[in-house]
Amino acid sequence: MAKPYIYITRRLPEKVWKELKRDYEIGMWPSEEEPVDASTLKYEISRADALLTMLTDRIDADLLKNAENLQVIANLAVGYDNIDIEAAKAKGITVTNTPDVLTETTADLTFSLLMATARRIVEANQFIKQGGWKNWAPFLLAGSDVHHKTIGIVGMGRIGAAVARRAKGFSMDIVYHNRSRRMEVEKDLGARYLEFDELLKTADFVVCLAPLTTNTKYMFNKESFAQMKSTAIFINASRGKNVDENALFEALANEQIAAAGLDVFEIEPIDNNHPLLTLSQVTCLPHIGSATMETREQMIELCLENIKLVLNHRRPLTPVS
Ligand code: DGY
Repeated sequence: MAKPYIYITRRLPEKVWKELKRDYEIGMWPSEEEPVDASTLKYEISRADALLTMLTDRIDADLLKNAENLQVIANLAVGYDNIDIEAAKAKGITVTNTPDVLTETTADLTFSLLMATARRIVEANQFIKQGGWKNWAPFLLAGSDVHHKTIGIVGMGRIGAAVARRAKGFSMDIVYHNRSRRMEVEKDLGARYLEFDELLKTADFVVCLAPLTTNTKYMFNKESFAQMKSTAIFINASRGKNVDENALFEALANEQIAAAGLDVFEIEPIDNNHPLLTLSQVTCLPHIGSATMETREQMIELCLENIKLVLNHRRPLTPVS
């Protein structure tokens, strides 16, 4: 009997999939950096029993029409806005993601981005390396305090709660907005629930950690930036399309808000000529929220475990509901 076929859409180190070769046929896109091309993905989806996908792979209803044997799509991310979940469900295909294993790592990055933006760490580094440091001066690269300020977390899921724990360690006042109240963060960390507009007016740091859905798309727009304090710092570590980037650029350029730290963008990779990249008060990262060696290995292991479970007619560890 033919072995079930697993197709992996990016080159992954042999050590993580070698063992699987005994029981499964493994196919893999040969590049680690370049995403799989559309025609290869269309062909592979037509023959695979399982797919291990990246957040850069758009798995839509049209593509899924070609899936004849596909039982599971294991997405190497906690977010799964790149997959048409309804279309997968209609074909009886299980979709899994990678929650929990990346929570603390992504919270570390989010808080680092907040600190780096507030204290102008990247600018300061460039300043020295470009030979700009001639003298010490009282307000040289003076940024904003983080401690004892108010952090407003939009999207109080697992990562939001982990960021709130870090904020607590910096004696920050924590406010949040979420689809539903999170009583444990209110009780354990003293976080206060606010309506979205109220949070925008109150927070010194507005941190977007909401998943991308039809309700959250462009939730940060001209009207939202207009409500923030002129000293506010905006951080986005969830999905770029939660933000209207033109409105963000205008708000920063017109000093309606003070600065932004961005790990994600509307279109990734962001175009090198994008106006946001011209602003010194923008600190940007290439979508590396969960990118540590340890966490990426755990995410891959979780994807492969989910695939094995589904192919063996068992419930996966982290199905998307
Ligand atoms: C995710 O898992 O959704 C993150 O964006 C990856 O860093």
